[in-house]
Amino acid sequence: MRRVLGRSFSLLLVVLLATLLDARAGEATSPGDPALGKARFEQYCAVCHGHHAQGDGPMAKATTPPAPSLVSPEVRKRSDQDLVRAMADGMGVTMPAWRGILSDQDLLDVAAYLRSLGELTHLP
Ligand code: HEC
Repeated sequence: MRRVLGRSFSLLLVVLLATLLDARAGEATSPGDPALGKARFEQYCAVCHGHHAQGDGPMAKATTPPAPSLVSPEVRKRSDQDLVRAMADGMGVTMPAWRGILSDQDLLDVAAYLRSLGELTHLP
C-alpha cells in the first residue's frame, strides 16, 4: 500500500513539474507584462521619452532628433517584434541600443506597457 501511494505520489510530482515547466516555457513567448514593463520604462526610458511615453521627458529636447512620443499612431501600428528590434538595436545617435542591458523579455514587457497606455491595437 505504502509503495503504491509512493508511486502515485511521484507520478503526481512528475505531472506537476511538467505542468510548471510548460507554464514557464509559455511565459517566455507570451506578450510582455505591462507592470514589469512600466518599471523598466520609468528607470531607463522616461528621462527621454517622458513618464507616459509622450516624448516629453526632461532630456527629450536635448537630443537630435528630439525623443519621439511612443504612443503615436505610427508606433501603435508596429508589431511587438518590430518594436523590440528597434529598442534592442537603438536608433540614430542618441537612442541607445538596449540589447545587453535589457533582455528581449524586458523589451517585450516595455512594449506591453506602451500598448497599455492607449487604446493600442495589438499586432502579434
Ligand atoms: C538618451 C535618450 C533616450 C533614451 C534614454 C531612450 N530613448 Fe528611445 N529614442 C530616443 C531618440 C532620440 C529616438 C529617435 C531616434 C531617431 O529617430 O534617430 C528614440 C527612438 C525610440 C524608438 C523608435 C521609435 C520609432 O518611431 O521608430 C523606440 C521604440 C524607443 N526609442 C524606445 C525606447 C525605450 C523602450 C527606451 C528605454 C529602454 C528608450 N527608448 C530610451 C532617445 C532615447
